[in-house]
Amino acid sequence: MSPVKVQKIVCIGAGYVGGPTCAVIAQKCPDIVVTIVDLNEARINAWNDEEYRLPIYEPGLVDVVRSCRGKNLFFSTDVDKGIQEADLIFVSVNTPTKKSGVGAGFAADLNYVELATRRIAAVATSNKIVVEKSTVPCRTAESMRTILEANAKPNCRFDILSNPEFLAEGTAINDLHKPDRVLIGSLQSAEGLDACQALSSVYAHWVPRERILTVGLWSSELSKLAANAMLAQRISSINALSAICEATGANIDEVANAVGYDSRIGPKFLKASVGFGGSCFQKDILNLVYLSESLHLPEIATYWRQVVEMNEHQKSRFAKRVVDTLFNTITNKRITVLGFAFKADTGDTRESAAITLIRDFMKEKANISLYDPQVEEAQIWQDLAEASPNLSLENIKKQVKICSSSLEACKDAEAVVIATEWKEFKEIDWETVYQGMNKPAFVFDGRLLVDEDKLTKIGFKVITIGRGSL
Ligand SMILES: NC(=O)c1ccc[n+]([C@@H]2O[C@H](COP(=O)([O-])OP(=O)(O)OC[C@H]3O[C@@H](n4cnc5c(N)ncnc54)[C@H](O)[C@@H]3O)[C@@H](O)[C@H]2O)c1
Repeated sequence: MSPVKVQKIVCIGAGYVGGPTCAVIAQKCPDIVVTIVDLNEARINAWNDEEYRLPIYEPGLVDVVRSCRGKNLFFSTDVDKGIQEADLIFVSVNTPTKKSGVGAGFAADLNYVELATRRIAAVATSNKIVVEKSTVPCRTAESMRTILEANAKPNCRFDILSNPEFLAEGTAINDLHKPDRVLIGSLQSAEGLDACQALSSVYAHWVPRERILTVGLWSSELSKLAANAMLAQRISSINALSAICEATGANIDEVANAVGYDSRIGPKFLKASVGFGGSCFQKDILNLVYLSESLHLPEIATYWRQVVEMNEHQKSRFAKRVVDTLFNTITNKRITVLGFAFKADTGDTRESAAITLIRDFMKEKANISLYDPQVEEAQIWQDLAEASPNLSLENIKKQVKICSSSLEACKDAEAVVIATEWKEFKEIDWETVYQGMNKPAFVFDGRLLVDEDKLTKIGFKVITIGRGSL
């Protein structure tokens, strides 16, 4: 058998990964027809929107979709047809942390992966290469293979590959155009290697061959968890040091710069902040913790769990610093929160530090004004309601006001808290903000974003993560 030449791809899951990833495949492979399917009709409608109001904000994404939608890129809710027509299927569904049952709070919920896999087995009438794109615990590919083989129609064979996605939200299109590496895991059998070759040829349309790494299935699955755990560990490490800086008068930017100059360490991912968010870091580390515990490696589990605990500590430490600085009470005071997305250049709010901060400020009975340039209002209310299950949405709305600009949000506030590093917050007219605030006017910079000296000259009292006042 020789590797199949991939002509039709379907991607199950039109989310933050499936959408951008497969749109870029369509853009770079005009000879391949790519269909992205999802059960969520509203999401598919938005991908097909005539005015290109896509369901996801990501710089450069609209241009990619514009260039190939209707030519070799299609979005549809017809999952079965997509599966039947494709010779290669990406499974790119969500794998959130389990909320109940065995492993609740740690293990990945593989229900969506399993349902998608069962659907493939139920409707496929020809051979398929099934690619696990979702981030999953080790050996999930094995479970997918068992399900597919047990339910396959006669003469229908399935080859499973692992092809984890390393894109970062906010820079997804650039990351997809110029990936550090593409990782493909396969069984080391002749068929497995052929399937691996077929997928490699898709990426080889634009990715240099030396950046396409081919490994065993389990190494591929574990590498994704390992990469996220190590990235998050760097953030928790620098954040742990930021607490020491605040207590000693050292400056975390200077420390990070000095440390990052060491070529064995490198400068990236050494920016202190109010804590990491996003749908992946916490979930994937907890997954690794669960895996370690299942393998009877409690010390390993404790080691990785600490990265998440440090992150929680950083968020609550920052919220406490706001309260302490505002003379130990923020009751009935207006606090402005700038930014709600978990980082700049995305509208994604999953695990955003801003949610935790606002929840904590609400507990202190503060009034909150909030502004984010991309996040939809409905999403904000949903996140805040989930974070405070004991409060009705009506009561939340009494305490939180969503504004349509930074200036509006800062009016009459006692303090401005920068929660997301949107570039536009750097360029705010701080003079005008200062005029409109109560005095003393505080700025709490949770992202090392603003020019502390400039704001201090205007009259602000500036409190920055990782910078002490000694
Ligand atoms: N978001 C990231 O930055 C990122 C990066 C790398 C990897 N990942 C991983 O990629 C996977 C997907 O993440 P995401 O952020 O795109 O999630 P998402 O929630 O944005 O999208 C998943 C989509 O799958 C759809 N879906 C679920 N079950 C389905 C089914 N049976 N049939 C059809 N559609 C179905 C959902 O409706 C949803 O639209 C996760 O495993 C995640 O860990 C995410």
